[in-house]
Amino acid sequence: MVGPTTTPGPAAGTPSSRPPSYQLPPNKAIIVTGGASGIGLAVTQLLLSEGASVAVLDRDEAALGRLAATQTPGRVHTQSVNVADPKAVESAVDRAAKELGPLWGLVTCAGIVRDKTLLKMSDEDWRAVVDVNLSGTFYALRSAAHRLKDQKEGRIVAIASIVGLRGGFGQANYAASKAGVIGLVETAARELGRFGITVNAIAPGFVRTPMTAAYGETLEEACKAESPMGTVCEPSDIARTVRYLLAPEASHITGVVLRVDGGQAIGA
Ligand SMILES: NC(=O)c1ccc[n+]([C@@H]2O[C@H](COP(=O)([O-])OP(=O)(O)OC[C@H]3O[C@@H](n4cnc5c(N)ncnc54)[C@H](O)[C@@H]3O)[C@@H](O)[C@H]2O)c1
Repeated sequence: MVGPTTTPGPAAGTPSSRPPSYQLPPNKAIIVTGGASGIGLAVTQLLLSEGASVAVLDRDEAALGRLAATQTPGRVHTQSVNVADPKAVESAVDRAAKELGPLWGLVTCAGIVRDKTLLKMSDEDWRAVVDVNLSGTFYALRSAAHRLKDQKEGRIVAIASIVGLRGGFGQANYAASKAGVIGLVETAARELGRFGITVNAIAPGFVRTPMTAAYGETLEEACKAESPMGTVCEPSDIARTVRYLLAPEASHITGVVLRVDGGQAIGA
């Protein structure tokens, strides 16, 4: 097990060239699950580049080590955690808050796929994906909400998928987990609004990451053909949208499922 590490850098909230309403609150931290790869890594890097303090919870110890070793400006705290373990998530969120100070937000990016048509899908394939993608999101959201509620403000952004809106061939486990994330987000938005906490989901289409690299080029080409723009997304496209939903100026956006997919879900 790699223990928690904190890499010091410039103080959190270092002023950037952004207008004041778009600045993240200084001296508050953001937790990113699955922040060691793909979309989560892009989110982490963008937030760090703006001087935010970021706690990255991920199970990939090697990738966490590489991240902690970078000279990225800002402050990054890394912890090796399996998000499917509720107790581990609870203590990781506690530790992150102790290391970095009060929380401003949570971004849940940890996710896996185990594709098979449903006639061939084992109980284990089903459970593994639902445990990480849906239960893992719930555990992190609940832990963060306990802390944000006392502060009477905060932001939660969960990465769902367009597959959670329209299903996906060979992805019963994944589609159900992402549809569950959407239901969780809409419920959390209702329950947490009174505490000044916004809760939103982003539903990406195909994004070029290590997860999708495993599918090869055929899927990417098929997804481009579905998009009115003829393109697929990069992790930075999703990161910029996460960043917007974390901003103070997004204070009245809650319970939204925002597709960031180049129109893939509506079709070309
Ligand atoms: N890439 C896409 O096309 C796409 C599209 C829609 C939604 N998404 C979603 O975006 C999120 C990020 O996906 P990505 O494409 O960046 O994948 P990725 O594989 O590059 O990154 C996923 C990260 O989650 C971590 N992770 C996995 N299981 C974990 C666990 N049990 N505990 C802690 N960390 C764990 C991995 O170690 C990895 O760092 C996922 O939720 C995925 O379902 C991806």
